[in-house]
Amino acid sequence: MTPLLDLPSTHTVRTGWRGLPAAQQPAWPDPAALDEAVATLTASLPLVVPRECDLLRNRLAAVARGEAFLVQGGDCAESLDTADAGSLLRSAGTLQQLATVFGYMMSLPVVTVARMAGQYAKPRSAATEVRDGVELPVYRGDAVNGQAFTAAARTPDPHRMVRVHQRSAATLNLVRAYGAGAQAGPDHALEGLRRFAAASPEPARYGALTEEIARAGGFTGTGDGWHTPGELFMSHEGLLLDYESALTRVDAVTGLPYATSGHLLWIGERTRRLDGAHVEYFSRIANPIAVKIGPSADADELLRLVDRLSPGNEAGRLTLVARMGARRVREALPGLVERITAEGRTVGWVSDPMHGNTISAPSGHKTRRFDDILDELSGFFEVLHGLGAHPGGVHLELTGDDVTECVGGGAGVGMADLPLRYRSACDPRLNGDQSLDLAYRLLELRDAVRVPGVPEALR
Ligand code: PEP
Ligand code: CO
Repeated sequence: MTPLLDLPSTHTVRTGWRGLPAAQQPAWPDPAALDEAVATLTASLPLVVPRECDLLRNRLAAVARGEAFLVQGGDCAESLDTADAGSLLRSAGTLQQLATVFGYMMSLPVVTVARMAGQYAKPRSAATEVRDGVELPVYRGDAVNGQAFTAAARTPDPHRMVRVHQRSAATLNLVRAYGAGAQAGPDHALEGLRRFAAASPEPARYGALTEEIARAGGFTGTGDGWHTPGELFMSHEGLLLDYESALTRVDAVTGLPYATSGHLLWIGERTRRLDGAHVEYFSRIANPIAVKIGPSADADELLRLVDRLSPGNEAGRLTLVARMGARRVREALPGLVERITAEGRTVGWVSDPMHGNTISAPSGHKTRRFDDILDELSGFFEVLHGLGAHPGGVHLELTGDDVTECVGGGAGVGMADLPLRYRSACDPRLNGDQSLDLAYRLLELRDAVRVPGVPEALR
């Protein structure tokens, strides 16, 4: 008897990408250790289940249709060496507060997604790093090696992927417990916004905006029966194919394969080549997925990528995350949005205003200017609205902690302040105040960036 559907086996999904060009994979020095780690992960429990991934896919379908807004954010790179529950909960709280502001600004339900519980592998611009004449493998994230500049720390260790799985399970447990508690509700988010406004350099202006938000109800997901305070999905870049494929499971109900390392996985700017291993693996999983798009993206190539990753063209399957840079967004993005829209493809359009705006501070720290981040985000709204399309969300690198990694905004972190509390293992994050400042500044710009949102008469 011929099967009704030609469903891929777990084996095909786990191995189909092997042999294709796989960018940014570590050179694991010990094949036996890699086999052992992969076997352990293959026999491990899934971190998420298919029905939750499907729920997020439905939420993102609303984003793609212009009926919801995505707030996605968290660390550039999570760390295995710190276990700070407060920090995790503060980041989750910041996302909730941002969701409240953006939900009000857009007058739409918000779907909230953390870069958390799996964001441990980083693409890098070079394979090695040289210091004082010594050359060692580059740091590729805690899933691969350690940050310390020693041969021992920098040697890729596949057992770290097992630790990442265990730590991600613990992270999920904590964040889910928090999401179920009263402290994740809209009232708590509003309280946080009031505290932020009162302590900000603009207490009168920001206080008035906060009361506007409060009067509107401070919602994060009303409409269509999805009022779900504390609902938080997990996402990460699906960079390490050994990790992702070992955690792929076939859903017993539908027979479809899912990545069970997180609800939403994305392909990074450096690993999105059409004939590459990442695109092959992602094309076979049923999760909602995203792709980062930089200023060099070409409309024909992007259309082919969209068709490869979302052949059924279903809303919610694919989100495109534009990370163009403040100076490029207004020229590089319109052609892409126009082409994809004109060809009838349904995707969510989201702005990552972080990765196109990284600069080097005089101290040598990687940093980003708050004003550039705001400028790219405003440009994104202008472009999408100018084309009659939906600016579907923001993707930020942030923490709820009081770090000094990005300059400007909030309490005005200066270049000289960067060494004070620079804690990121990779890219600079907005701190809690800078994150909220960004949302408030955008809210103030709503007329300039033509956010339809709340009519003036009702504010
Ligand atoms: C990231 O999100 O941390 C990242 C590396 O992004 P991109 O692929 O857009 O450079
Ligand atoms: Co980053």
